[in-house]
Amino acid sequence: MATAMVIGAQWGDEGKGKIVDYLAAKADVVVRSQGGNNAGHTVVTGGQAYPLRLMPSGIMYNDTICIVGTGVVIDPKSLIEEMHTLESKGVNAKNLQISTRAHIVFPYHIRLDEAEEACKGNRKIGTTKNGIGPCYADKINRIGIRICDLMDKEVFAEKLKYNIESKNMILKKLYNMDGFDYEQMLADYLGYAEVLRPYVCDTNYTVQKYIDEGKNVLFEGAQASMLDLDNGTYPYVTSSHPVAGGACVGAGIGPHMMHNIFGVVKAYSTRVGEGPFPTEQCNEIGDKIRDIAHEYGTVTGRPRRVGWLDARAVRYAAGLNSFDRLAITRLDVLDTMEEIKVCVGYEKDGKTIEEYPADLKLLEQVTPVYRTFKGWMQDISSIRNYEELPENAKIYLEAMAKLIGVPIGIVSVGPSREQTIVLTEVF
Ligand code: GDP
Ligand code: IMO
Ligand code: MG
Repeated sequence: MATAMVIGAQWGDEGKGKIVDYLAAKADVVVRSQGGNNAGHTVVTGGQAYPLRLMPSGIMYNDTICIVGTGVVIDPKSLIEEMHTLESKGVNAKNLQISTRAHIVFPYHIRLDEAEEACKGNRKIGTTKNGIGPCYADKINRIGIRICDLMDKEVFAEKLKYNIESKNMILKKLYNMDGFDYEQMLADYLGYAEVLRPYVCDTNYTVQKYIDEGKNVLFEGAQASMLDLDNGTYPYVTSSHPVAGGACVGAGIGPHMMHNIFGVVKAYSTRVGEGPFPTEQCNEIGDKIRDIAHEYGTVTGRPRRVGWLDARAVRYAAGLNSFDRLAITRLDVLDTMEEIKVCVGYEKDGKTIEEYPADLKLLEQVTPVYRTFKGWMQDISSIRNYEELPENAKIYLEAMAKLIGVPIGIVSVGPSREQTIVLTEVF
């Protein structure tokens, strides 16, 4: 049995899609286990970029089984659109499986997401406005509607009626907004049901079966550890558990099945949306990195906030996930930086803060302690062998591994599949 997991170690957009696409070459199965179309994973192959939202990044391979698992929240309209877009680019979804237990996103979730953000004013989270939080809230509140419900017209009609009535009341009375028409939404969703029906199955059962059969199964995280609902910078987080433990729940398997847990770490930091970001560089350094790396959100197009690598935060993430290896991405983005800084810890009033602060007031007041590294000032994008990396790049990488406390397994030096240096083979 071989399993591997790809988890974001920062605030998202680390390049998980690229790493999954690389590892998927040898995987039989790729499984998404949480999040929804708030994710934007760009895979570059054959000179073409494929932006993915709900579809696992293994979809580029014709024979790979791609699973949208139990813990994912599915906007069927968005998923069907994604399937069509991929088909138009020659990528088919014949090996897609969708969990009977996954929850469904409805237009009222999206409208509530927008309404709640608007009401919060300067306390807004900066969500992707895809209805993710309200959909997970319904799940937790045990009024959510699942894919298995959608497959049964009578059950679905009854559950939708209850939900639309209560959501319309909230939208109208609390937010002074329009509600939704039940008959129209019922017809739309019953239409989506027939498109998705061939792909729907008990993925808890199939994932366990594939693992038992000794297949190579790869778990693809969306979002990232610092956006984890419980352990991230709450409330500036997403509404799922994008950590290794969350992947077990969301894929419907036990923790002993999880091996080769990769923490994906961008060689610097970015964050989209609001929330504390101790190493943020609102200056020419941040602007330079954003321009070189084109750091704009795949989902919302928002400019990503940019900062130095926060090894303190990634060390915290390593503990949350028990990472086996790091996959360092976008190292090439730093090719023209004369100096590179890394945050090695936080201080307040001259004292080191040992624990990662839960209290955002404290997190906003900490002073990052930086270590400065010399840049390598050369193009590394065509290097394929670790030994051939410039000495200063190796010093930077080795310091990263030490500061985070996890060895490096992969170094990525460009967006395409080939631009990957592998130190440890997984499958
Ligand atoms: P994800 O959400 O973690 O999958 O990351 P995104 O796809 O949202 O953002 C990462 C971006 O970086 C994508 O545009 C990738 O194509 C790109 N990328 C991934 N790895 C590398 C790398 O090593 N170097 C460069 N220059 N770009 C990369
Ligand atoms: P990938 O998988 C970066 C952020 C949003 C917002 C917060 C809550 O591409 O790394 P939500 O819509 O989930 O309720 O928004 O989480 N966020 C992401 N940031 N990458 C993502 O996904 C994200 N998914 C959500 O910007 O701050
Ligand atoms: Mg992304």
